[in-house]
Amino acid sequence: MRQKLLNAGAKELSYEIREIVKKADQLKKLGLSISWENIGDPIQKHHKLPQWVKDIVSDLAKDDDSYSYCPSKGMLETREFLAKQTNELGGVQISADDICFFNGLGDAISKAYQFISRTSRVIGPSPAYSTHSSAEAAHAAHEPLTYRLDPNNKWYPDLDDLYNKVKYNPNIVGILIINPDNPTGMVYPLETLRRIVEIAKEFNLFLVADEIYINITYNGARAYALSEIIEDVPGISMKGISKELPWPGARCGWMEYYNRDKDEDFNRFCNALDNAKMIEVCSTKLPQLAIPKIFGDSRFKTYREETNKNIGRRSKIIADILHTVPELTFNETFGAFYNTIIFRDETLKPHQTLQIGNQKIKSLVDDWVSQDIPLDKIFLYYLLGAKGICVVPISSFCSELQGFRVTLLEEDEEVLTKTFSSIRDGIVEYLHS
Ligand SMILES: Cc1ncc(COP(=O)(O)O)c(C=O)c1O
Repeated sequence: MRQKLLNAGAKELSYEIREIVKKADQLKKLGLSISWENIGDPIQKHHKLPQWVKDIVSDLAKDDDSYSYCPSKGMLETREFLAKQTNELGGVQISADDICFFNGLGDAISKAYQFISRTSRVIGPSPAYSTHSSAEAAHAAHEPLTYRLDPNNKWYPDLDDLYNKVKYNPNIVGILIINPDNPTGMVYPLETLRRIVEIAKEFNLFLVADEIYINITYNGARAYALSEIIEDVPGISMKGISKELPWPGARCGWMEYYNRDKDEDFNRFCNALDNAKMIEVCSTKLPQLAIPKIFGDSRFKTYREETNKNIGRRSKIIADILHTVPELTFNETFGAFYNTIIFRDETLKPHQTLQIGNQKIKSLVDDWVSQDIPLDKIFLYYLLGAKGICVVPISSFCSELQGFRVTLLEEDEEVLTKTFSSIRDGIVEYLHS
């Protein structure tokens, strides 16, 4: 090329949640049946939307108006409906003008970091959900900046680590919270959130809360929304329908801007995000039309409560199977639909292996594990080859820890029990090989 083509930040883009699928697909071609525990898509795991939800969507699909463009920031009635929902929580108050729709939160996330000045950084949790960490790192052309979530303290954020990193890195302008968290299933306690707000105040930062799982809590937990605790700190809440409805294929999410009037720089940033959407014309319309009809239906609350209860029950089944393995650090989960399980220090060793009967599969896996890759990835390639179970290594979530993320989505509890018993047996065989 006449000039350098690729931006220096491009090397920071990776998404192991889908990368591992390429490996699993190679094994599938060799006849292995795969249990997909890697991706957070309830529909792919056979969740069925209630008929009344499908009826709302199919009625909308019969209306000619659903097929046109919509306003750049999104349908006004929908934004009014969502602003009212937020305002009813009693915290910061917003109007429809403080909401902008995107083509899924993935789109919102990449826009948000793209418009932050290159030298300014947003610090986020580690293990990190890679859509945030990759997009933030790519904007800065540097590795992601993270604060530690502590597996030995229920995956709660290490607030001293966060405070010190913010204090000694003047480039940090914002703190990212993912609540409830992907990949750990942790729900931020109220006092933790309050402390993060204090840190933001002390250093004049803004807050970003990814709240795509805000209504997915179980086993007695409740997630506090950013709008409830933010006081007068500028902030953005990111929400969507991919998980909660769930309708991930709709590609529909939105940002809520809080306290724009408190900081002119922040207000300009929000305007830039709105303008970025304007030059694209608008986001997906039909799902926006469906939101007030579905969320506003009295059946939705019951449906969500039931669905959350089922996730909670599955989390207990998984806990019963895995928490007995002494080499693992296992935390119960309370939100979203993932769990991150960590191998204790020094338990993974390079010589460990799992028996694989099929010679073609074995030689493919032997080839993958002969590369220079983290020890948890080696274990997971063996698990994939030996048991046909596809999970994601934690080393690829910007973490020094060794472990893996599973989903709590398998609706058939017999299949769930079988899969997780097989993971446990694989771990025990591997560690003692
Ligand atoms: C924390 C978090 N944020 C955002 C997303 C992306 O959501 P969307 O489907 O709306 O792009 C996901 C998807 O898994 C997620 O886990």
